[in-house]
Amino acid sequence: MDSILVTGNGPVNGQIPIAGAKNACLTLMPATLLSEEPLTLTNAPRLSDIKTMTALLQSLGAEVSSLQDGQVQAMSSHDLTSQTADYEIVRKMRASNLVLGPLLARFGHAVVSLPGGCAIGARPMDLHVEGLEALGAEIELKDGYLYAKAPGGLKGAVHEMRFASVGATENIVMAATLAKGTTVLKNAAREPEIVDLVECLRKMGAQIAGEGTSTIEIQGVDRLHGATHQVVTDRIELGTYMLAPAICGGEVELLGGRMRLVESFAAKLDAAGVSVTETDKGLKVARKNGRVSAVDVVTEPFPGFPTDLQAQMMALMCTAEGTSVLEERIFENRFMHAPELVRMGANIEVHGGTATVTGVERLKGAPVMATDLRASVSLILAGLAAEGETTVSRVYHLDRGYEHVVRKLEGVGAKIERIKGQ
Ligand code: UD1
Repeated sequence: MDSILVTGNGPVNGQIPIAGAKNACLTLMPATLLSEEPLTLTNAPRLSDIKTMTALLQSLGAEVSSLQDGQVQAMSSHDLTSQTADYEIVRKMRASNLVLGPLLARFGHAVVSLPGGCAIGARPMDLHVEGLEALGAEIELKDGYLYAKAPGGLKGAVHEMRFASVGATENIVMAATLAKGTTVLKNAAREPEIVDLVECLRKMGAQIAGEGTSTIEIQGVDRLHGATHQVVTDRIELGTYMLAPAICGGEVELLGGRMRLVESFAAKLDAAGVSVTETDKGLKVARKNGRVSAVDVVTEPFPGFPTDLQAQMMALMCTAEGTSVLEERIFENRFMHAPELVRMGANIEVHGGTATVTGVERLKGAPVMATDLRASVSLILAGLAAEGETTVSRVYHLDRGYEHVVRKLEGVGAKIERIKGQ
């Protein structure tokens, strides 16, 4: 298995291009299942998760062509042959469950495996099921699979989610586009990826209002047509690389970055002593003075501080002046990076969903292990700021969500290389 070798070597300077959002692409791709006509996505990220979604769509009979070195995904669901998302694919990636809403809406039935346990928590699907049942679906759990049907077709309804789940919002919105009548989804998630999905669905002929707020209204239509859509910038990749100059010093411009995507995160950086300014090309980030100061963080649904940047923020707090408290409120088991950071000399105590981090002057390089996608990149960031060499193993986690991580960080002067495993 490959590993990544990082050598701490001072400030980073230059520009980093930010890719299209993995999480947006993973919900935009299943949207192809809603229409017989082609859907083409541009600005797609080159990631193994996208390949997994491609394999899933192909297993349903969709045609998916990856063009322009993977930056364009051209899809057609004209001749689907199956409405079953198999465990063998779903177990690799939870976002596979996003085929449920579209398949059910277009065909009146779908069978989707439950994703099973996930390294960062239980991640059940009850909120997806409740929303689709409100639209008239009958859903039964049998042998690890959700068997969903809507014999008379889905019907619009008013439904309030108990929690603003991102995936459930996406599944319910996609399903409602082809339901009879009007659906009002209350307590909907407001993430930019949902706004991006709605913009694409609208190009396909869907009638939707209120995206980006907690009430989304969908007027069902008989059919959707083809479209071409550009995937929104990845705010998590953006936030991750914003931390490189914050943790190492120097000044980096993140190309394609927009403040509206990372408002709460940028506010925390500002409070910690890191300036973020919007330019015509992206976001420029640099420390205001020397060492950053400790700040407290609570993860929340958008527009709050994203859980997907908690591990990376913890890496920064490991070298901040003072003590910070990081509270994880979205996932119950998302501090697996903490013991790895401790191996690098960090001072962290974890109690339940709260981590208390007391900054040290300098971390020390060590062999560490990636445990999930965001944890893996937090260890790379920590390695950039550490004295000596850090080897991060199990980098297949990283390949799921960060394209060309070595090239991008090398481009701003970091000493980082990928070591091929046997
Ligand atoms: C999406 C993102 C993921 C991010 C997360 C939260 C994608 C592909 N993934 O995941 O990177 O970390 O949002 O911002 O977009 N829950 C339930 N029942 C459900 C659904 C969710 O209890 O039916 C719980 C989950 O266990 C979790 C919380 O709700 O604790 C948030 O999950 P959700 O917002 O659904 O996240 P995902 O869509 O899975």
